[in-house]
Amino acid sequence: MQSNQAGRAKVVLERVTPETLAQYAPRLAAMTTSHILNHNRSINFLHPFTSHQAIELFLKTSSYLSLDGPGRVIMWVAKLPSEESREALESVDMDGKSTDNADIVGTVQLAFHTSPNGVHRSEVRKLIVDDRYERRGIARTLMDELQRYAKEEGSKLCLLDTEAGYAEHFYTKLGWKLSGYIPNYAMTPDGLEKRDAALMYLEL
Ligand SMILES: CC(C)(COP(=O)(O)OP(=O)(O)OC[C@H]1O[C@@H](n2cnc3c(N)ncnc32)[C@H](O)[C@@H]1OP(=O)(O)O)[C@@H](O)C(=O)NCCC(=O)NCCS
Repeated sequence: MQSNQAGRAKVVLERVTPETLAQYAPRLAAMTTSHILNHNRSINFLHPFTSHQAIELFLKTSSYLSLDGPGRVIMWVAKLPSEESREALESVDMDGKSTDNADIVGTVQLAFHTSPNGVHRSEVRKLIVDDRYERRGIARTLMDELQRYAKEEGSKLCLLDTEAGYAEHFYTKLGWKLSGYIPNYAMTPDGLEKRDAALMYLEL
């Protein structure tokens, strides 16, 4: 559990386009790998993996951001607003190389379903907050906007799967309901352990 509870962080949300995604992907990858390397959190990868693969994890969403109908993905980043807090923050990738856009401290994606009988459903993907800025309300700010937007777009049911335990507690705090657990769903980054997934939903 993080101890950096220095009050709520003020952030500005920005919708990501295919063009800005190309600029932001290295920073988003750096934020993600920090959770894997520093906290052994199960996010997609097994060691060894490369910076390039971490960047690709975000870039592969690009074409879905341009879609208009079913299957479209909406993506946001949370940015620190003040020059002062931006200067205090550095962003380094897993090779120790600095990335641009250090003012980005969070991101989330909302995917609308493709099947005709499921167009009222949407799914939360890749909610990630800079590990130095956890427990300061950034994920809640991102999720409030995601849920508001999903509802405005006619989505009635939002779904997600997440690691059972800490991330599940976060979503429960936001009013999400637990459907159940899938045992041994994902390996830890070192491949030594398997963790359960929590399947969760929110009626909008
Ligand atoms: C899960 C994660 C997104 C939470 O982000 P965050 O910005 O720290 O969350 P917030 O500060 O907005 O927390 C909102 C509420 O959830 C609670 N919460 C957050 N993290 C928690 C944790 N680890 N355990 C229990 N409760 C938690 C907070 O207490 C807070 O409640 P409050 O507003 O009443 O104080 C962040 O830890 C993260 O990026 N983890 C790695 C990636 C991941 O697991 N993503 C989710 C899977 S899709």
